[in-house]
Amino acid sequence: MPQDTSPQAVEAGASISPARLAHVVLRTTQYDAMLTWYKTVLGAWTTFEAPGVLCFMTYDEEHHRVAIANVPTLTERPAKAVGLEHVAFTYGTLGDLVATYERLKTLGIEPYWTINHGPTISFYYRDPDSNQIELQVDNFATIEETNAFLAKEFPKNPIGVEIDADDFVRRFHDGVPESELRTRPDTGSGGFDAVRTS
Ligand SMILES: [Fe+2]
Repeated sequence: MPQDTSPQAVEAGASISPARLAHVVLRTTQYDAMLTWYKTVLGAWTTFEAPGVLCFMTYDEEHHRVAIANVPTLTERPAKAVGLEHVAFTYGTLGDLVATYERLKTLGIEPYWTINHGPTISFYYRDPDSNQIELQVDNFATIEETNAFLAKEFPKNPIGVEIDADDFVRRFHDGVPESELRTRPDTGSGGFDAVRTS
């Protein structure tokens, strides 16, 4: 049955969650470099631009997933400032993540951290302003399996086990079963050592 969107159906005081996460807006002094980087990394295209001022871009049905605003008077953000840690984008298949890693590497864009978190295989990149972007693929087919891992295995190591990306990609192309590639090695509590401090 279609959702009743009439005014009478609006329940006063009801707690209503958003339908979805919409977009990320970044302000920069490196406008052109940021546009190029996000379009290149995400395979995104412009949906609106006030040239030199503001660019909306997307890679799917949303009108914009990322926007870049050119603000020449901004100052540098201290490396250890509080705030956003990273933004993550999920690929549909492990092959898509591998192919993206390889494409970006040929363009000189390489991850600074590659890890099997357990729930995801994650490759982390820095944009020209050092904002951190995670490209990931889910390791489990269902949310139930992911939640079961989070409940049982993740507390032992809530960071993950680092991956040698080139070795991982080679093993992928060699035909190592995805189930094997995606399974996080059991490293006990050692994963906390991987927490970055810079
Ligand atoms: Fe993340």
